[in-house]
Amino acid sequence: MVSRAPGRVNLIGEHTDYNGGFVLPMAIEFDTVVALSRAKRDRSGRDVVSTVVSEHFGEAMLDHQRDQIDATHWAAYAFGVSRLLDSCGISTGPWRCSVATDVPIGASLSSSAALEVAMAAALLHLAGESWDAVATAQICQRVENEVVGMPCGIMDPLICSSAVQGHASLIDCRSLDIEPRRVVDGSVIAILDTMTRRELVDSAYADRRAACARAADWLAVNALRDAPLDAIDGMPDDLTTERRRARHVITENERTLAAANAMDSGDADALGDLMNASHASLRDDYEVSGPALDTMVAIAQSGPGCRGARMTGGGFAGCALALVDADGAEAFTRSVRDRYRDACGLDADVWLSQPAAGASLIRGGE
Ligand code: GLA
Repeated sequence: MVSRAPGRVNLIGEHTDYNGGFVLPMAIEFDTVVALSRAKRDRSGRDVVSTVVSEHFGEAMLDHQRDQIDATHWAAYAFGVSRLLDSCGISTGPWRCSVATDVPIGASLSSSAALEVAMAAALLHLAGESWDAVATAQICQRVENEVVGMPCGIMDPLICSSAVQGHASLIDCRSLDIEPRRVVDGSVIAILDTMTRRELVDSAYADRRAACARAADWLAVNALRDAPLDAIDGMPDDLTTERRRARHVITENERTLAAANAMDSGDADALGDLMNASHASLRDDYEVSGPALDTMVAIAQSGPGCRGARMTGGGFAGCALALVDADGAEAFTRSVRDRYRDACGLDADVWLSQPAAGASLIRGGE
């Protein structure tokens, strides 16, 4: 069978998912496609290994009975999904799978969630199980947390599994309610690749998570989503960093809800202003931007027809995004590419993407 899952950009609501907060991502028109079939058993009927091959990264094998999954290997995402499903009693036996993708790798566009969700869609179908976007996203998040060792939240797999074509989704990361919303008519989302990369599996993400947990502890709330902004004023001086992290999360939740309202009322300027404020907060309070992202965002913000711009995803490198008037998008793209080349000496990729649909089965059968 063949299944696909998209990459994503997050319009606003960054580093809020693991704080029980709100995010507003959309799936993009880049997919990871997996073609998967049952592996043959050997003559004695014994289970043989599963094999995954990727046009970019080569081949990997896993003997389900004997092998540990190597968390540092790209195939951990594929094998991890299989193993987690197995541990939930959804067993497929060994399989063979080929992966192809046009989701830029390591660019903060959720290439790993796209692979996990596409694998899950195929394996669930092979096991004869029904598809549930939320349960699938929870399994994929566990793969990241428990197999790969990346303590990420639910946003990426959940938008990859559940997105509705033509819409972004306002997601409440506590209740896991998903509300599809149209992006403002007459505007398009430009994805701006700085062409810089940083691995997500690093300590900076875990550090931010830990600082948020300490802030929530001090504020005596379950998660920063529950803290009012003025409560952080009382935090002591030895928690200055935690106070700034908390200020980002609390104000970002407010901005995300306001952004959903701006989208509902078709107010591109209000949405753009919120995106600009989000970037400043991520740069100054949360400290997850980086020189290339800051340069790209500043160039985009002053570009023709731009209503607002910000970094997207975990941060430090990878992609930014901009809300741009649809009728001037070509001029915006040219101007950003030229000015970014002058500033950084790099040829940025710029894509205009409509909101795409979440994961789907392209072809059933075995
Ligand atoms: C990464 C993580 C997400 C989320 C974002 C930041 O993409 O995978 O869970 O925390 O960073 O918003």
